[in-house]
Amino acid sequence: MGIICSGLDPENYRSDKSLKLFQRMHRQLQPVVIEPKNQEKIRGQSLDLSPVQKNLMKRYWQEAIMLSNNDIFHKTMLASITSSPKMNEIIACGSYCYRDLRKWPKLNKICQAQFEWFQNIIISNLNENEVREKAVDLGRHHAKFAQYGLKPHFLDIYQLHLIKFLGKLKIENEEEKDEFLSCWITLMDFIVECMNFGYAQALTEAKQQRMQTIELR
Ligand code: HEM
Repeated sequence: MGIICSGLDPENYRSDKSLKLFQRMHRQLQPVVIEPKNQEKIRGQSLDLSPVQKNLMKRYWQEAIMLSNNDIFHKTMLASITSSPKMNEIIACGSYCYRDLRKWPKLNKICQAQFEWFQNIIISNLNENEVREKAVDLGRHHAKFAQYGLKPHFLDIYQLHLIKFLGKLKIENEEEKDEFLSCWITLMDFIVECMNFGYAQALTEAKQQRMQTIELR
């Protein structure tokens, strides 16, 4: 898959554990194939985070993101658009936005929505069923933008950039930082899987509806 992601450089991941995280991220870049009819598969996906890990996520959400880096999703979207300019067109609903992207109100609105969405699931303790339901819904919502060219692999690009920016956060305790990053990779794998499922499900339903309408004519 032709993903440009210059920031994902092994140099940024110096300790052994960090390097393993980097390698784990690279392994993620396999195309995701979701069979929409297979409801059981998505129910079987688990968000494998212990109570200690959930607390760590909550603590560093507040200390390292909310208080000093609440623009992390904005940076992630800007970097994702640079990697894949097609995303600009999707957000502009088929046109292309040439203005200073950092001041684009629509992009700001989306990034703010992402911040609140993540905050909500992390503060409410990353309950597996709740996160699954919300992420599947979100995937269904994003299917509306398939008509402008939204593709599931954009989520992989987004995930890579988000992890890259999380890797740059200032967290003194190296062990906790590695653990925090590992938790985010687990969380994002789960979210992307569920969003892809919701996305595919919504597109399949829309297609079935179109077929029924044609048959009725
Ligand atoms: C895990 C990654 C992502 C998350 C968690 C996320 C989250 C959200 C949320 C919470 C909203 C607001 C939904 C609402 O109004 O109810 C939204 C809207 C939107 N997102 Fe995403 N998003 C993600 C990735 C992306 C990517 C990669 C794109 C690529 C272009 C994208 C494009 C959009 C668009 C176009 C809207 C609609 C804005 C509007 O018209 O109101 N999202 N997203």
